[in-house]
Amino acid sequence: MIMKYKAPLKGELSVPGDKSISHRSVMFGALSEGLTEAENFLTGADCLSTISCFRQMGIDIVQNGSSVKINGKSLHGLTAPKKLLDAGNSGTTVRLMSGILSGQPFRSVITGDASIQKRPMKRIMTPLTMMNASIASIYNNGCAPLEINGGGLRGIHYQSPVASAQVKSCVLLAGLYGDDVTRVTEPVISRNHSELMLRYFGADVKCEGTTASIAPEPHLTGQKVNVPGDISSAAYFIAAALLVPNSEVLLRNVGINPTRDGLLRVCRAMGADITFVNEDHSGAEPCADLLIRSSSLNGTVIEGDIIPTLIDELPVIAVMAAFAEGTTIIRDAAELKVKESDRIAVMTDNLTRIGCDVTATEDGMIIRGGKPLHGASIDTKKDHRIAMSFAVAALACDGEMDIQDADCVRISYPGFYEDLERLSL
Ligand code: S3P
Repeated sequence: MIMKYKAPLKGELSVPGDKSISHRSVMFGALSEGLTEAENFLTGADCLSTISCFRQMGIDIVQNGSSVKINGKSLHGLTAPKKLLDAGNSGTTVRLMSGILSGQPFRSVITGDASIQKRPMKRIMTPLTMMNASIASIYNNGCAPLEINGGGLRGIHYQSPVASAQVKSCVLLAGLYGDDVTRVTEPVISRNHSELMLRYFGADVKCEGTTASIAPEPHLTGQKVNVPGDISSAAYFIAAALLVPNSEVLLRNVGINPTRDGLLRVCRAMGADITFVNEDHSGAEPCADLLIRSSSLNGTVIEGDIIPTLIDELPVIAVMAAFAEGTTIIRDAAELKVKESDRIAVMTDNLTRIGCDVTATEDGMIIRGGKPLHGASIDTKKDHRIAMSFAVAALACDGEMDIQDADCVRISYPGFYEDLERLSL
């Protein structure tokens, strides 16, 4: 797909619902008694994979656009799937569901596409095995397909070596089926949607510092979930509005959970003009309308505890850094290597193609910004966040950008190009 420089971005947009919260509304709804109604549910391919996996285990789910009704069958109501559970491209689906499957008295096999079959699963196999689950990597390479024979779980206190909400949530979900309280301590706090939502559905979840705990066998009850706009999707429009001169964009109803808002903190440190218009802290997940005006950006250092709060936004932050004056250093972000693609390698390669002076490091990138950048052919490796990041770069570069496999954005944002087009007319 070819993209070129466009006029300033103007107008308002409601970005689609949060991916993490959409997945969890289906999973927790399925394990609850009664009806769960999710509004503004993300209809991206990843969340549809979660819906289809639960349908295979006997859960009745009615999807009408972004309204989804889940008829829960409570904690012990899932039935054995007749075939492979297919998580598609979704790491959240494989890892969180493995926790749930470990608690079920039946055998299941979960897998996904070529990218999923390369992503590390030992990080969940280790704690689930400690909990007494039988979970095996079928090709013995630490990746999916995973064969799980569940049941008879022990509560544990797991010290996770990685700050990963997928690992934490996997263990907490298995903990629903444990014989005692399950605790997870992580090195740095990761997104806390599972803790907030499980509590909202009726679980006994406690959080203290970087430790979250859950009591087994709660009575979960179906709920109404208003999914806030996904800050990870808003990120592309924030970056585009900041980079294209004379832009002014209002993004409505964006989730600003403090375990997800690192992007906003980094943008402000780079000199961005971002204002919160209507802040709403009444629900479990805080939201705001964000007003973004184009700004001249400076380089910054991004490291330490902020990394998990912006991990999915680092590709588009790297694009902003390429246009910013001065050097940006990203450290402590080795997790980027095990996302939908190796995002350190893929960002460095594609930023170099557009003329940026960038060096890959073991755990991040050094981006020397401010050089004139130009269009190029972009090898996305079918990673949705790489495609969207370079669509943003296209708006601020000279010449044409040719984004390969551009349709991979359907993973998290099916209407992305249309929304970008509409704001930049
Ligand atoms: C997610 C957690 C993060 C994030 C992913 C969604 C979640 O992954 O990158 O897009 O919904 O829990 P990790 O837990 O592997 O960091």
